[in-house]
Order: sequence, then C-alpha cells, then structure tokens
Amino acid sequence: MTDSSAPAPGIDTRRPHQARIWNHWLGGKDNYPVDRDVGDRIMRVFPEIADIARHSRALLVRVVRFLAEEQGVRQFLDVGTGMPGLDNTHEVAQRVAPGARVVYVDNDPLVVAHARALLTGLPAGSCDYLEADVRDPGDIIERAAATLDFSQPIALLLLGIIGNVPDEDDPVAIVRTLTSRLPSGSFVVVNDGTNVLGVTDDTPADATARAEALRLCADAGSVPYHARTPGFIAACLEGLELLEPGVVSTPLWRPDFPEIDEIEPLDSFGGVARKP
Ligand SMILES: C[S@@+](CC[C@H](N)C(=O)[O-])C[C@H]1O[C@@H](n2cnc3c(N)ncnc32)[C@H](O)[C@@H]1O
Repeated sequence: MTDSSAPAPGIDTRRPHQARIWNHWLGGKDNYPVDRDVGDRIMRVFPEIADIARHSRALLVRVVRFLAEEQGVRQFLDVGTGMPGLDNTHEVAQRVAPGARVVYVDNDPLVVAHARALLTGLPAGSCDYLEADVRDPGDIIERAAATLDFSQPIALLLLGIIGNVPDEDDPVAIVRTLTSRLPSGSFVVVNDGTNVLGVTDDTPADATARAEALRLCADAGSVPYHARTPGFIAACLEGLELLEPGVVSTPLWRPDFPEIDEIEPLDSFGGVARKP
C-alpha cells in the first residue's frame, strides 16, 4: 500500500494493526509506515517471527487441501483471516472442489475491505466476508449461516487468532462455543504462536527476546498477543478426535515433503480435530 493512497473510511493509519504487521512480515504491501515500524522493531528482537508468519500461511494451505481432498470438506469458516495472501482458503479449497463455500471473518475493517475486493472465488462456490469479533461467537455463527449450511460438515479455521484473546475473555470457552454449533463430522483447526522455552534450540536469552517482542506489540497500541503453550491449544480441541500427528510445531503438521526437507520446529503449535 503506497503511503499516498487514501485509506478507506474507518481505516486508522496512525495506530499499528496486527493484520497489517503480519502482512509486512509476510513480505506483503498491505500495510502502512506505522505497521512497518513496529513490525521491524519486533523482527529485530525476535527474527523468528517472520518464519512463524510464513509457516502459519503454509499450514493453512496444507490443512485446507487435506480437509478438502482427504476428508471431503466443502465448507470453511476462516476466523482471523488476515490480509489476503498468495494462497487463500477459498483458492485452495476450490482448486479441489469448485463448489466449496468459505466465510471469512476478521475484526479489522481493512482486512474485510481487502478480502471483499480480492477474495471473490469461483462462480460455482461462494465466499462471504464478515466484520466480526471472535469474542462474539454467537454473532459469527448466526451471520455465517447465510452462506454455510450448518447441517453439513464445516471446517472452523482459527490460525493466529486465539493469541489475540486475553485470558479474561476465556479463549478456550470461545473455541468450544464455536465448536458446539458445528455439526458432527466437522473439523476444528487451531494454530498459534507459543511460549515454550526449549522447543527449538532456545536459550533463556531467546525467551527474553520473545517477551520483549510481545511487550513491543502491546506497547505499540496494536492488539496485545498472548503466546501460550501446546497444552493450551490441545485444551481448545478437547472432546474432539485429534488427528495425527496431534498438536505439534506448525511446520511438523503433515509436511509436504518430509523425506526431503529438514524440518526445524518453531515456537508455534497447531492441531486439527474432528467433531465426532
Ligand atoms: C496473526 S493474523 C493471522 C492471519 C491468518 N489467519 C494467518 O494465519 O496467516 C490474526 C488476524 O486475526 C484478526 N483478529 C485479531 N483479533 C481478532 C478478534 N478479536 N476477532 C476477529 N479477528 C481478530 C487480526 O485482524 C488479524 O487479521
């Protein structure tokens, strides 16, 4: 986004926004100087964040392809969509099944405006875009029902969003409420940055850097991010059938070329589970 381009009404370019910082880490152009400034400061103290962002997007592609191809899922509810990227949920799903339906949800008006403009989909399928807050799961389900058929399996995608929900808003309960509204045979995907010293070759200095990155994020006026543990992600999926390989570091979830790539774990974990 060029600095001279006039932002749409309701877009605040003076405060950094998480979706735009994330887009900057992914090498995108949908961000403003204020986002790049904070993003660069965070990257200086915690360079791993760029890999975490890249691997989160790569996981999205693997998971959606797996669910569409191997599990026959045709409906996706992508909450905390982020700025449109190279391979978005409907593109991956509709490559497998042109009639796939996707509802994108984000609370950042700029994300929703971009999604509406860019994520149009194939005529056989359908896409919808909701400006909504994950902390109001009832609202999301009610509005998503205009596009998704809640009597048929739906994949609920929660990638990089639960860390935005503070403990006092009970993020595990939010995931369970959303899950409770899905029919049997649906899937829930949760992936988020974690805070586990020793996942990689972390040292206490790395843990300090991570804490400093989270502090920078909160101080900048962006939404504070709460890095949690793999156990927390597993708790979000409790009561469901956890698919192999379980809750693992993001790059290790069913990698495309395990025999070729040397896969380094990252401090970011995810898992996929089926609702019985
Ligand atoms: C870290 S980005 C992840 C984007 C994408 N899912 C991915 O993995 O690449 C998190 C997204 O969640 C959105 N978000 C943050 N808090 C939210 C909330 N309370 N409700 C809905 N969306 C939220 C942000 O605007 C941002 O687009």
